Amino acid sequence: MQKILISLLAVFVGFTAYFGIKYYSSEPSYFEKRIIAHTYQIKMAHKTYGFDLVDPEQAPPDIRESVLRGYSIIMNTPFYAPLYAKDQLSCTNCHFCGGDTLGGKNNGISLVGVTTKYPTFSKRDNKSITLEDRINNCFKRSMSGNTVPKDSQIMKDIVAYLNWISFEVQKIKDIPWLGLTFLKSEHKPNGENGKKVYDVYCASCHGLHGEGGAALASTQGKTIPPLWGPNSFNDGAGMNRLDMLSSFVFYNMPYLDARLTEEQAIDVAGFVSKQTRPAFE
Ligand code: HEC
Ligand code: HEC
Repeated sequence: MQKILISLLAVFVGFTAYFGIKYYSSEPSYFEKRIIAHTYQIKMAHKTYGFDLVDPEQAPPDIRESVLRGYSIIMNTPFYAPLYAKDQLSCTNCHFCGGDTLGGKNNGISLVGVTTKYPTFSKRDNKSITLEDRINNCFKRSMSGNTVPKDSQIMKDIVAYLNWISFEVQKIKDIPWLGLTFLKSEHKPNGENGKKVYDVYCASCHGLHGEGGAALASTQGKTIPPLWGPNSFNDGAGMNRLDMLSSFVFYNMPYLDARLTEEQAIDVAGFVSKQTRPAFE
């Protein structure tokens, strides 16, 4: 009897210890990491700049429907704007959390405050462009798609969403978190090393052939966007430029765990930008 009790006790202690350790030492899921990162961003915005990052759901009743539609378009662009987005990317794949971040490490390219920056002079277009023009640059290049008419509901909804997330920062001049920060390294890309970096740090998610598509475990169905091939951004996209791509990768990849050296980021960007993708017309 005593022996049975002792062995039962041993089994109990063993189980408790095993699951206890497993519970406390387990890596948070990508979804949990994303929430932790965003919560930190909200605190930072409040502490450093004195404003709050807002959710689309918090928009006042008179604009709420349009803001929520704009948010949906940004989160799942091929689904909500199929006439204009022709690849398998969504805005949020580069502008993480629908752009509602302060950029920097692991937070993609911010769009908070972007409405205050336009119209502005564009070197690429060699003229002053409006916010709608800039959004269309991403539609034509990043989404390998077509121009969205300025007075269409889709464009109005995207602008309503961007206005809402920018509402609190209208008074901040030269918003520091907008745009990618280019890397300082003068390193010239080495494609062979870039391929090695790709295989070690990227292929597990984006696929051996850059095709993406796999569902990421525990991210509530988020799928991995393609990096090249017919479903990715075209060769006229900012993301296909070595300076932009290497900076984006250095600050943001591997997803939520950016840890490449500048040289590795430049090498892998060199490799990725040499792959085939749709042509910009
Ligand atoms: C853990 C999975 C994972 C790994 C590893 C990873 N990525 Fe990503 N990557 C993602 C996800 C998910 C997104 C979209 C993020 C979002 O929508 O919030 C993304 C987006 C991107 C984008 C912008 C969208 C696109 O498809 O063009 C680029 C460029 C990119 N990754 C490059 C890389 C490179 C280069 C590496 C290797 C250094 C890498 N990624 C490693 C998951 C990953
Ligand atoms: C493949 C990646 C990618 C996708 C997808 C993408 N963008 Fe962009 N976007 C960029 C890059 C790169 C920039 C330029 C960042 C810089 O200037 O440093 C940019 C810039 C912008 C800007 C101007 C930001 C500024 O600071 O002036 C806006 C607005 C914008 N994108 C909106 C969108 C919208 C809306 C969508 C979806 C329809 C979208 N983007 C999809 C990569 C992307």
